[in-house]
Amino acid sequence: MAEKLIKGPVSSAGATRAAHRIIRRSLAAMAKPIYVLNGPNLNLLGAREPEVYGRETLEDLRARCERKAAALGLTVEFRQSNHEGELVAWIQEARTKAAGLIVNAGAFTHTSIAMLDALLACPVPSVEVHLSNIFTREPFRHHSYISKAVRGVICGFGAIGYELAIEALADAIAAGKSK
Ligand code: DQA
Repeated sequence: MAEKLIKGPVSSAGATRAAHRIIRRSLAAMAKPIYVLNGPNLNLLGAREPEVYGRETLEDLRARCERKAAALGLTVEFRQSNHEGELVAWIQEARTKAAGLIVNAGAFTHTSIAMLDALLACPVPSVEVHLSNIFTREPFRHHSYISKAVRGVICGFGAIGYELAIEALADAIAAGKSK
C-alpha cells in the first residue's frame, strides 16, 4: 500500500510526460502535409469513362482534398503522374516530408511491385484509394500489389473516398501512429 502511495504520483508524472511526448509528436506531424498521389490517367478525370469515375476533374478532387484537410487543421500536397518512377520517388520523398500518404495508383495498383516496395519503406500512415469499386470490375483489377503496405483501403465511393481517407489519416496522425 505504502509503495503504491509513493509510486502513484511518480507514475502519473510519467504518464503526463508520455502524453506530452505524443502531443508534441502529433503536432510536429500535423505541421507536415498529407501527400495525395495520383497515378496514370487520373489527369483525365471528368473526361475519362465518366460512368465509372464520375464527372469531377482532378482539379475538383484537389479542391475537395484541400477543403477537407483545412477543416481538420491539415494541409495537402496533391500530385499526379503517369510515370511509375516519379510516383516511387514521391513516395520516397513522403518518408520524411509527409504526415501521411494517400495513394490512388491507378493501373499501377495491379502491376507495381516497385510502388509496393516504396510504400513498405515509408513509415508514415497511408491509405489506398480508388474511385471505382475495383472488386466489381474486371478480374485483373481485383488484386492490388500495394494494399499489403497501407493502413487501409477505400474504394467505390468516388471522390468522397479521398475525403474519407483524409479523415482516417487525421485520426491516425493525431493518435501518433506511424505506418
Ligand atoms: C482506379 C482503378 C484502377 O483499376 C484503374 O486502373 C484506374 C483508377 C480507381 O480510382 O478506381 O486508373 O484506381
